[in-house]
Amino acid sequence: MGPPGAGKGTQAARITRFCGIPHISTGDIFRAAIREGTELGREAKKYLDAGQLVPDQITIEIIRERLKQQDCARGFLLDGFPRTLPQAEALDRLLADLGSNLDLVLNVAVRPEILLERLTGRRICRSCGATYHVVFQPLQLSGICDRCGGELYQRSDDTAETVEDRLKVYTNQTASLLEHYRRRGLLKEVNGEQEIDAVWMEIQRCLRSLC
Ligand code: AP5
Ligand code: MG
Ligand code: ZN
Repeated sequence: MGPPGAGKGTQAARITRFCGIPHISTGDIFRAAIREGTELGREAKKYLDAGQLVPDQITIEIIRERLKQQDCARGFLLDGFPRTLPQAEALDRLLADLGSNLDLVLNVAVRPEILLERLTGRRICRSCGATYHVVFQPLQLSGICDRCGGELYQRSDDTAETVEDRLKVYTNQTASLLEHYRRRGLLKEVNGEQEIDAVWMEIQRCLRSLC
């Protein structure tokens, strides 16, 4: 968990490699559906472009289907889900049905004033999905992905205007979930304002007992 631009995706890529489990990002699932022009994509686009949440019913159904897949049998990492209390409650029910449970909830904590620069400076590879930042995670060669040579793009919701709406949505609808998990003793807070490698070191300490 963490606000938009906290570094959830950046750290999730490392966690999933380290633990050998699938990375399930609801944002990535919606963006893939938009690219493919599916019915889900057409519906989701309205919300993503406005910085608003896709309705719970749609989002929960996607997670329900995804968690049933074989690659989730030995664990998985959720990135950007749950984001509302109904989603968190639905997740509890889904996991109970699967005979599973949450091991850990990581919150990557970053103050709002830092997030705008992170998001407007983000660049993503169209081919392999690697994430960069014009200042904090720069490319070796300008314009193309260091890993695969792919073309880079900016997310359409990474404009100053939409970021403001996304931050409001986080504060009003998602931030209170931290308390839900803190009360259950599942929450670990990580200082997301450090450099990417330092955040990863802190996360690795949290994972030690799990992977
Ligand atoms: P989603 O894709 O989840 O976006 P988000 O939560 O807004 O978060 P981001 O992906 O923008 O940021 P991140 O924390 O992953 O940061 P990153 O690692 O890339 O959701 C998008 C939309 O989909 C939502 O608005 C909603 O419409 C819909 N949606 C998704 N899930 C939903 C749900 N459950 N319910 C309903 N709707 C849903 O890093 C950001 C940048 O900072 C990068 O450039 C990176 O290089 C840089 N960076 C990372 N870490 C550091 C660091 N430590 N120091 C300096 N720079 C850093
Ligand atoms: Mg992300
Ligand atoms: Zn690439």
